[in-house]
Amino acid sequence: MTQLTVQLNRLQLANPILVASGTFGYAREMAAYVDFARLGGIIPKTITAEPRRGNPPPRTVETPSGMLNSIGLDNDGIDYFIETHIPYLTSLGTSVIANIAGRNVDEFVQMASRLGEMEGLAALELNISCPNVSGGVDFGTNPEMAADVVSSVRGACDLPIIAKLTPNVTSIVTIAQAAADAGADAVSLINTFLGMAIDWRRRRPILGNKLGGLSGPAIKPLALRCVYQVAQSVEVPIIGVGGIGTIDDVMEFLVAGASAVQIGTANFYNPSVSERLVDELPTALSELRVTSISEIELSE
Ligand code: FUM
Repeated sequence: MTQLTVQLNRLQLANPILVASGTFGYAREMAAYVDFARLGGIIPKTITAEPRRGNPPPRTVETPSGMLNSIGLDNDGIDYFIETHIPYLTSLGTSVIANIAGRNVDEFVQMASRLGEMEGLAALELNISCPNVSGGVDFGTNPEMAADVVSSVRGACDLPIIAKLTPNVTSIVTIAQAAADAGADAVSLINTFLGMAIDWRRRRPILGNKLGGLSGPAIKPLALRCVYQVAQSVEVPIIGVGGIGTIDDVMEFLVAGASAVQIGTANFYNPSVSERLVDELPTALSELRVTSISEIELSE
């Protein structure tokens, strides 16, 4: 009998297939395409302490094998999230992991402590890696700041904590170690790579914000490398994210050292993909002759 549940320190998931923040709205948008209860969990779009309008358009652009976005944390703020989205999300029969971004440690702490009071949330993902807002990546590029925000949130809230890290650093291992030492239950590896697209005829950047975060198949090898490097050096459960769209992609991340994965950009071109990957998982496990995710390991 195949066992799909995964344990990430204090967070247990029914299976390792999650949908990534910013690619699944607040789930309502996807109700026609996915049986939510089949998923390991849903991570809704990042919320902030106050509503944000986001960056000027255009905010997305397709590139070969990837997508650039410069959304800029457009969201209606935590009050609206608590009133409108949490009741719906927590009725869906799957784990809901709220993703939060603060402008400073106090904002992270205040949001975490409010969400910690909510019935039905499974965990918090700390977005310390958004490349599209001023200060967004600061917490994720400095080990002391990463540790400070993780330990402060941990002190303010009993929910399991996941730190979502940026690859736009010299050593992601150093940041992951700092987050783990500060009490993160898991790390999500990785947020987008900073990039840009140019319209050469108009001689200007295509995105309104000039720079944006690159996601999709183009970044999969880079994300795999980050997962592998952190798994080799840091004792912390890893949630792999970056260009995952097929069961082969999922299995590559699990072999590289991830305990779970997030499906991101693939939701835009195939909104049902996450559920299909859950269906395909048992056959892939049996090919490896394992009966649980925790038995999957790299062959040396
Ligand atoms: O700009 C955005 O809203 C994207 C956020 C992120 O990549 O964390």
